[in-house]
Amino acid sequence: MDTKKVKPASVAAQALGWIDEETRAIAPSIHTATTYLRDPDNQYRSGRVYARDHNPTFDQAEAVLRELEQGAEALLFASGMAAATAVFQALKPGDHVLAPKVMYWSLRNWLMTFATQWGLQVELIDMADIEELRRHLQPGKTRLVWIETPANPLWTITDISAACEVAHQAGAKVAVDSTVATPVLTQPLTQGADIVMHSATKYLNGHSDVIAGALVTREKDDYWQRIRVVRAQIGGVLGPFEAWLLTRGMRTLFPRVRQACASAQRIAEHFADHPRVLEVLYPGLREAQGHLVAAKQMHAGYGGMLSIRVKAGEAAAIATAANVQLWKRATSLGGVESLIEHRASVEGPGTPAPADLLRLSVGIEDTDDLIADLEQALERAR
Ligand SMILES: Cc1ncc(COP(=O)(O)O)c(C=O)c1O
Repeated sequence: MDTKKVKPASVAAQALGWIDEETRAIAPSIHTATTYLRDPDNQYRSGRVYARDHNPTFDQAEAVLRELEQGAEALLFASGMAAATAVFQALKPGDHVLAPKVMYWSLRNWLMTFATQWGLQVELIDMADIEELRRHLQPGKTRLVWIETPANPLWTITDISAACEVAHQAGAKVAVDSTVATPVLTQPLTQGADIVMHSATKYLNGHSDVIAGALVTREKDDYWQRIRVVRAQIGGVLGPFEAWLLTRGMRTLFPRVRQACASAQRIAEHFADHPRVLEVLYPGLREAQGHLVAAKQMHAGYGGMLSIRVKAGEAAAIATAANVQLWKRATSLGGVESLIEHRASVEGPGTPAPADLLRLSVGIEDTDDLIADLEQALERAR
C-alpha cells in the first residue's frame, strides 16, 4: 500500500495492505515459536533470535501504529502500564520528571510510590497551565514531561505543541498518553512530542478482550534504544494471539472512534442543561476547559469519553450507575459497548474525581438508546 496516496482510515482498514507472500492470505498468521534457528555460519539470517523481543506477529500491528502516528518506530507491550512504565524506567535515578495531577490514576500511583522509591524525582503539576509547566521545568535536570490529553477522569486538555516548546527549551523530552484521543483524532508526534503512548487495551483493540500497550517514537535516538532494552530485558511483551487480535481491532478503529465521538458529543449536549445534572465534562462542549485548544489539536471529534456530575450528589451518582440497563457498569474504556462507573469508588482516596462524578465510555450502540437509558437511570436514582 502506498501510504502517501491513501488516508489513514484506509491504512487502518487494510492494516497497511499486507498479504502473506507465501500463501497470499490477506490476514496475517499467528507465530507461536519462542525461538529461532541459528544458521551454520553462527548467524541468524532471519534477524530473529528469541521471541521476547522478536515475534513476527508484532510486526504488522507495530507497523500500522507507527504509520497512523507518523512515527519512526512502534513497540507493543503487555499492557498500557508496561508501556508507560518503560518510558520512566529508561530514565536514571535522580532524574526529574513532571507529570499531571489529573492523569490515569494507576500510573500516578506507580510514579508516587515505585518510581519515587527507585530514585526518580516526580512532581505533579497542573499540566493544562503552560506557565506552571515553565515554572517547574529545571533545565538540565528535568528529563521528561508526561502529558495525558484528554486526561482521566475530568478530560482536561493540555496544549501539546505549547508544552513541547517549553519542555524542549529546557532540554526535556515529552511523552503523551494519547489513549483517549487515539491517532484518529490527534497525532502528538506531529505536534512536537517525542513519544506517544497508548493503552491499546482501549480504542486501538476496541473490543474489551485484550490487555495491550504501545509506544511510538518520533526518532530512534538513544532514549528510545534504552526503552527497547527495558522491553526486551524486563520482558513486558505481548502474547502473539493478543498482537494478532490487536491488528484485527485496529482495522475498525476509524469507524468505531468516529461513531463514539459523534455519540459522546450528542450525549454531552443533551445532559449539559439537564435538571438532574450539575455539570458535564467533555472537551467538545464550548464552555469546557480547553475547548479551543482541543479544537486546534483534535481532528474530527473530541473523543468518546465524558463525565457527568449528578446534582443530587454521591449516593444518587452511585444509584444512577446501579440503575442503567443498556450501559454496562464496569471500569475501562474504548470498547464497542458503553461503560459507566462511579470514578471515585475506583480511584479511592486522593482522587481528583468529585464524589458525584460518573465516568462514561461511549461505545457504538444507537445514541438514542444510550440517552434514554441514562435518562431512566437518573430518574430512578432520585
Ligand atoms: C489513559 C490510560 N492510560 C493508561 C492505562 C493503562 O493501560 P492498561 O490497563 O492497558 O495497562 C489506562 C487504563 O485504564 C488508561 O485509561
